This record gives sequence, structure tokens and C-alpha cells, in this order.
Amino acid sequence: MRISASLHLAANAIMLCALISLPSRAQDVALTPPMGWNSWNYFAEKVDDQGVRAAADAMVVSGMKDAGYVYVNIDDTWEGQRDSNGVLHTNAKFPDMKALADYVHSKGLKIGIYSSPGPKTCAGYEGSLGHEEQDAQLYASWGIDYLKYDLCSFIPEVMEKQAPNDPPAQMRLMHAAYAKMAKALRATGRPIVFSLCQYGMDAVWEWAPSVGGNLWRTTGDIQPNMYSIYANMSLQAGLATYAGPGHWNDPDMLEVGNGDLTLAENRAHFSLWAMLAAPLLAGNDLPHMKPEIKDILTNRDVIAIDQDKLGKQGARAYVDGEVEVWARNLAGGALAVAVLNTGDTRYSTHPFHLRLSRMGLHGPLKAKDLWTGKEIDLTEEMPLELAIHDVLLLRIAAPK
Ligand code: GLA
Repeated sequence: MRISASLHLAANAIMLCALISLPSRAQDVALTPPMGWNSWNYFAEKVDDQGVRAAADAMVVSGMKDAGYVYVNIDDTWEGQRDSNGVLHTNAKFPDMKALADYVHSKGLKIGIYSSPGPKTCAGYEGSLGHEEQDAQLYASWGIDYLKYDLCSFIPEVMEKQAPNDPPAQMRLMHAAYAKMAKALRATGRPIVFSLCQYGMDAVWEWAPSVGGNLWRTTGDIQPNMYSIYANMSLQAGLATYAGPGHWNDPDMLEVGNGDLTLAENRAHFSLWAMLAAPLLAGNDLPHMKPEIKDILTNRDVIAIDQDKLGKQGARAYVDGEVEVWARNLAGGALAVAVLNTGDTRYSTHPFHLRLSRMGLHGPLKAKDLWTGKEIDLTEEMPLELAIHDVLLLRIAAPK
């Protein structure tokens, strides 16, 4: 008895040591979905040092930082050439990446960067192939806190060349490439969030955490229109069990404030990403955003749904024609419900009738409308008027 007890103690001690010696990034990054900003959706190739500083400034001044936004992420097109030692340099748009990182850190924010496991990025800039350790060390020396690693040229240049006509072998090459960079990041000893961007290939949600991913894109690129937003949202149905603290499904960065999205559509997009426990990476022009866009991005009740400590992604509860009802369990037994009108023609002549019973609920129930801030009483089959592409987002503190 005593021997087995002490063996048990010894085993526990060994496990504890192993845990303690694990680099901290494996344990404490992305415990809730990452929040921040990324340059791509609005600036694309026009991103530069000044623009990133301006985004960091705006994140503070707008109140976004206080609302929980942390990461200021530079996407593609910062890369220059490698020198004779293989060291990657920035291009002229980014004269001093270390100074930029210091600036972002001085604001109490964190900074992210972008690369590819292939020889080139999606925009044709220098990728990390063959320089993974060197690049990871470079990022750490600059003080980088987040890496988005985008498959791009790895498909034609490595997967298709090394394993022609053999998709399973191609996928194994891809898994290995992501595992390699994760290992290189870990070896730096710096906590760096690792974001996989390979558009959902080979059921990425099933293997991304095992190769060190903290989040993984599940879809192709989002566009600032409701059809794209709705398509990306729909692709998350069934993926809820794969998400949790430290590892998240990523239906792509936010388009809130971009393109011709109406206020209703911006609200719906933000609500749905919160229901999906999605990373909240704003993708708009922060220094010039309208007050109503800032109000959407800083709605604390909605952010609290996204960042809920339980980390349980919401799921589609039921669909009634063009209206979708999604539900998300929250810490402390609360429930979030989103009712989305995806259709183009529903008016007060035919309000939607919410069926609480289809979610296993029984009215009357008290709920808070997270966009108006008003308390409402929910009853079975109650009529709801939903504007085109608008959402009703509710928090039910005590569902029954
Ligand atoms: C891919 C990614 C985008 C963006 C661009 C940059 O398309 O999916 O999010 O990073 O590359 O070139």
C-alpha cells in the first residue's frame, strides 16, 4: 500500500515538474478567444508602421482596450528579403519592427505577425519554409505575441510537388509543417498565440490542438457581405465540441464596419461571432470608425458572451425557414440565445414566433436584450419582429 502510495506521489511530482517545465504558452494563452485587430480586411497590402501605430492608439482611445481587445496583428505584406545568413528583414513599410512592437507594448497591448509554411505568403512575400526556427527566434527577439501561419504556397510548392496525386500524404506534410512551427515557437520560451490559417482543410479542428494550434480557420476568406458572413457561420454548425479554453474554431476575422454592411448586419455579425466563441479580431479602420461601429465593437454584454469563462461554443438550436436560432451555455447556468433573420423579406405582417420548447425551455422567462439593454419576458410562441438580416441577442440568467 505504502509503496504504491509513494509511487503515486512520485508520479504526481514528475507530472507536476513536467507541467512546470512546459513553456507557458502551452498553458496560458488564448484561454478565452483572442480579441484584437488585424490589418488585412481593410488595409490589405496598404498596411504600414504608421497604420499599425494608429490602430494601437485608436484601440486605446476608443475604449476597445478597456473592453478587452489586446492584439494588434500585422497580416501579410510586412516581409522583406533574407540576408546571406537567412535572416529575414522587413520591407520599407516597416522600418523597425522591434521599435513598433515596443510601441504597441507601451500601450499595454500585444502585437501579432504573419507568415506561411511555404516559400511565399499568399500575397507573394517571403515565407518561412526552411527558416522556421530562425523566424520564430526573430519574432521572439522583436517581442511578437501572436503568429498567423497561412498555408498559401505550401500547397503547390511542397504538398503537390512532394506528394503528387496523394492527398493523404499531402495532408501529413501539412500537419508536420504546422507542428514544426509550433515547436519552433515553443523553443523561444515566449508565449506566442499560434493561429492556423489553412481554410479548414482536412478537418483541421480534429488535429490543430495536437500540433500546438490555439485557433484555426475553419473557412475560406470572409467578405464584408451578409452572404459570406452567413456562410462562414453555417460552417461552424457541429464544431462546438472542438472549441474550448486555449483552442478555438476561427470563422475568420470581423468585417464589422467594412463594406456596405448595414447596422443590423454589423450587429448580427458581431452577435454570431460571440455565440460561436470566435476570436474577435476587428478588421476595420479603427482611427476612422463611426461611433455606431465603435458602439457595436465595444458592447460589453456581447463581448461577455464571447469571452465566457466556460468556453463552450454555441450551437444551432433550430431553423424555421430563413430564421435561425442559436443557443450557447454560459458559466453559472445562464444561456445566450441569438435569433437571426437571414432572409430579405419578412415584415410585421408575419412576425417570427420563438419556440422556447424547441430549446427545452419553458416560459415565462426573464431575458435581457443585449442590444437595447432592456429586460423582456419570453413566452412560448411569442411573436418577434426581426428586421432584414437583424438579430435578437438574449441573455437568460436562469433558464428553465
Ligand atoms: C489569405 C488569408 C487572409 C489573408 C491573406 C493575406 O487569403 O486567408 O486572411 O491573411 O491570405 O495574403
